[in-house]
Amino acid sequence: MTERLYRCYAKVNLSLEVLGRRSDGFHDLASVVHTIGLADDLRLDLADALISRVEGLDIEPTANLVARAATLLRDASRSSRGAELTLLKRIPAAAGLGGGSSDAAATLLGLNALWDTRLGLTELKELATQLGSDVPFFLRGGAAMMRGRGEELEALPPLRAHWLVLIVPPHDLADKTQRVYGALVPEDFSDGAVSERLATRLRNTRSDGWQLADDELVNGFARAANAVFPRLAETHAAAQRVCGRRFHLSGAGPALFALAADRTDARLQAARLAAAGLVAQAVRTVKHARVSVRRAATAQG
Ligand code: C5P
Repeated sequence: MTERLYRCYAKVNLSLEVLGRRSDGFHDLASVVHTIGLADDLRLDLADALISRVEGLDIEPTANLVARAATLLRDASRSSRGAELTLLKRIPAAAGLGGGSSDAAATLLGLNALWDTRLGLTELKELATQLGSDVPFFLRGGAAMMRGRGEELEALPPLRAHWLVLIVPPHDLADKTQRVYGALVPEDFSDGAVSERLATRLRNTRSDGWQLADDELVNGFARAANAVFPRLAETHAAAQRVCGRRFHLSGAGPALFALAADRTDARLQAARLAAAGLVAQAVRTVKHARVSVRRAATAQG
């Protein structure tokens, strides 16, 4: 019997500024991040041992943060329980959309409930940080200001279904995140003011009917990502030409997104991009990191 089934949402970085390199090798960030409707499904069943399976997109076994999250939680809670973890991937891996991090956060919370291990949020956040800089955000999701290496989080009022058009250029770079961080030069660093301004606007404005503007968005990886991903600059320029609007990098890329006025506009732009040979989709912002699918189905009757 399926015990738990979660829809685990992706994110975009509406703004992302790199403040500088730290002595521990990580970089300090200032980023406004928001969950979006593109999602993986994660099923958790009780079992005798820990077994994890991935369906859908191909991902490298080592990139499967779900298995690592399960082992980490089991060791931290000194539990001897097992589980079968089945991941249906829809979020392209290593694209700057946080798919693996969202799956990992759902695994920590889901198994903590399934095994009744009762770790508190502080302990779960500690484990999340060990799994990756983006994982703590996905314990809650919605909108947040991210500082430090990503683990210092300030919750912000989420947007109300803001539509975006999303492009995920394919890539096959191993260690993509490290390579893009490694390509940063001091000129790419900024003081975080754009992100702080955007966070202030989210904090102070009722989001109903409120539209983001391109000038409020920035990504400090833009130059480095173009240097690291072959053909990204070309794809970016083509998308802007086809849609007549700006596209922004999410995370360390290569995913790109543009603001849309509403669902109709987002779908129209996605269709234009598809006609030009670019794989694109309309997505909207969502207010949580995940939903329990069975509970959602029950709630809808
Ligand atoms: O934490 P995560 O596993 O996502 O980080 C992958 C790599 O990205 C790190 O080893 C580091 O090189 C780089 N990174 C960084 N600063 C951050 C987050 C990640 O330099 N804030």
